[in-house]
This record gives sequence, structure tokens and C-alpha cells, in this order.
Amino acid sequence: AHCAIGCQASLATNYMETSAVADLDWENLGFGLVQTDFMYIAKCGPDGNFSKGEMVPFGPIELSPSAGVLNYGQGLFEGLKAYRKTDGSILLFRPEENAIRMRNGAERMCMPAPTLEQFVDAVKQTVLANKRWVPPTGKGSLYIRPLLMGSGAVLGLAPAPEYTFMIFVSPVGNYFKEGLAPINLIIEENFHRAAPGGTGGVKTIGNYASVLKAQRIAKQKGYSDVLYLDAVHKKYLEEVSSCNIFIVKGNVISTPAIKGTILPGITRKSILEVAQRKGFMVEERLVSVDELLEADEVFCTGTAVVVSPVGSITYLGQRVEYGNQGVGVVCQQLYTSLTSLQMGHVDDCMGWTVEL
Ligand code: COI
Repeated sequence: AHCAIGCQASLATNYMETSAVADLDWENLGFGLVQTDFMYIAKCGPDGNFSKGEMVPFGPIELSPSAGVLNYGQGLFEGLKAYRKTDGSILLFRPEENAIRMRNGAERMCMPAPTLEQFVDAVKQTVLANKRWVPPTGKGSLYIRPLLMGSGAVLGLAPAPEYTFMIFVSPVGNYFKEGLAPINLIIEENFHRAAPGGTGGVKTIGNYASVLKAQRIAKQKGYSDVLYLDAVHKKYLEEVSSCNIFIVKGNVISTPAIKGTILPGITRKSILEVAQRKGFMVEERLVSVDELLEADEVFCTGTAVVVSPVGSITYLGQRVEYGNQGVGVVCQQLYTSLTSLQMGHVDDCMGWTVEL
């Protein structure tokens, strides 16, 4: 066992020796919480420095009813995945990028944040302590959920006096119930995800609570999720509730530029690089809804959704379909390239994976 993670982790390590993979129905993983063994927790007081952090059994945490996160939403989360390779080793995908994004978000939300080193080390410790929950190759991944929250008590509106950095993990399969089949999106005219000057560009918890109603209405109508337009012109694409959006026209792949209202996805950034290397022209710019409706293919990217093809968009009662309800050729190519890298099926010429 690694002494840094204490005696509980050594229990886990002992357990791992007798049972390499947990007893779970690996064939039917969706994107729901499966309780695992351990979680990481570190605290930070007014000096801005986080404690060393420890692994504790997964379970409820104690919070003051007056905690900043509960009252004023002072919180951020991250998402990344670990994959099990055929040789049993485990790969993380670009964990430093999540660390950087958490630091950027923390700055916007007036929170201290762990250093890159502490973040990545904490991710590694949490995955190793829960190693038996990393799905067998080809059966899914271990979703890693870092949280940063104002856990100290406040009453007046102000940054909390204490912060908690935590990580828990859960094995996951496909995010959308459609699996890898194309999803159907609706553009809801009356809801926006973010406005200029707001917090749309960081992964703060409130951004996700605020789209639940639009998402529920869309799901009640039979759609997979909502695609949001910009709040000013109601004309340019922003993102889907839980992922970024791309359009394909000929050899050109375009996605909305990062300008404060769009979440800077790590999968988004990776797909742009992969696509460019494959010879596509990539553009980050304003993408209008008119262009979307004229596109050859549309797909979404995100840690949870990976690369998901879009089969149809409904806008103002008009439904436009893509790829005859099948997975688009470009989308399929990019999905395969990215996941082969993430799962260690090909050499990582990008230097993006971290082996545990
Ligand atoms: C992710 O893709 O990791 C996210 O954070 C989106 C979340 C809504 C599942």
C-alpha cells in the first residue's frame, strides 16, 4: 500500500490482491452512481493551503447547514476517466488539464484550489484505492469526479472561510440511453445556459442545476437533450447540457469558440487536435443555427458522452436529420481515434495518457 493513503487504502490493496475486479454486472453499466470503496478528501482554511489529503471510506460528509456551497452555490466539479488496458494497467486521460480547469474555475468563484501536483496525485490515489472498480477492457471506464466547494459557514454573501477538495469515482458505461446510437436534440428557444460575463465558461455546479428544467421538458417530449443558443442574438450555438457541439461540412469541422459562455471541454480540445492531425480543417468560431441545419454531420463531445453522434435537431418545430440515423463517417473516425488513444489500443503519440 502507498503510505500516503493510509491504512484504509492498504485494506483496499489487500482486497485487490484477492479480487482484481469487483463483482458487478459489467455488461449493463450506464451512467449512474455505483458506490465504490474510497474517496479522497482535503481541506483548506483561510491561509489558502490544502491539507495533505487522505483516503476515507466512501460515504456521506458532514457539512454545516450554513456552508457556502449549500447557500450560495460556491462549488466546482470536474470529470475525467480511467480505462483499464488489456495488460491490466490503468490509463488516465490528460488529468493536468482538469487540474488547470479547476484552478481557472476557482479563480472565477473566489475559491482557493489545489495545485496541479496535488490534484493529479489525488486523482491517482483515488483510482488506485478503487482499482477493482475500473471496468474490464471494453466494458466502460471509471468516471472520476473531483469536487471543490466552500464548506465553511457563511451567512452574509461572501466567500466561505473553509474549502473542501474531494474526489469520488464510479464505474460507468454510456452516458446517453441511446448508447452509441445517434441522439436527438432540441433547441429550446426560451432557455439559455449562460450569458456574457456569467460563469458559463467554468465548471461551476450552478450551470448544471440551471439547465435541469429545459432538459426535463426536452426529455418529456422524447428528446435526448437540449442544445442552447447564445443569450444575446439567439442565433449562435453554445453547447448541450452536458457536452460541447461540433458540425461537419465537407472537410471542415467547426465548433463554437470559447468566449466565456462555453465550457472549455478537454474532449473538445482533444478532438480538435485529433481532427487536425487527420487532415480536417478545424475552426473555432461563431457557428450559427442556420449552418447547423445545413451541416453534413453533427456530434457532441465530453468526458461523459465521449463523442456522440447527433441524429436530429429540432428547431422551431422543424426537424432536421443527419446521417440517416446512423453514425456519421467523420464522427465514427474521430470516436475511434480518440478512444483508441484513451484505452491504450494505439501508441500515445500525443503524450496525453498517464499510466498508473
Ligand atoms: C463530464 O462530461 O464529465 C461532465 O462533467 C458532464 C456531466 C454533466 C456528466
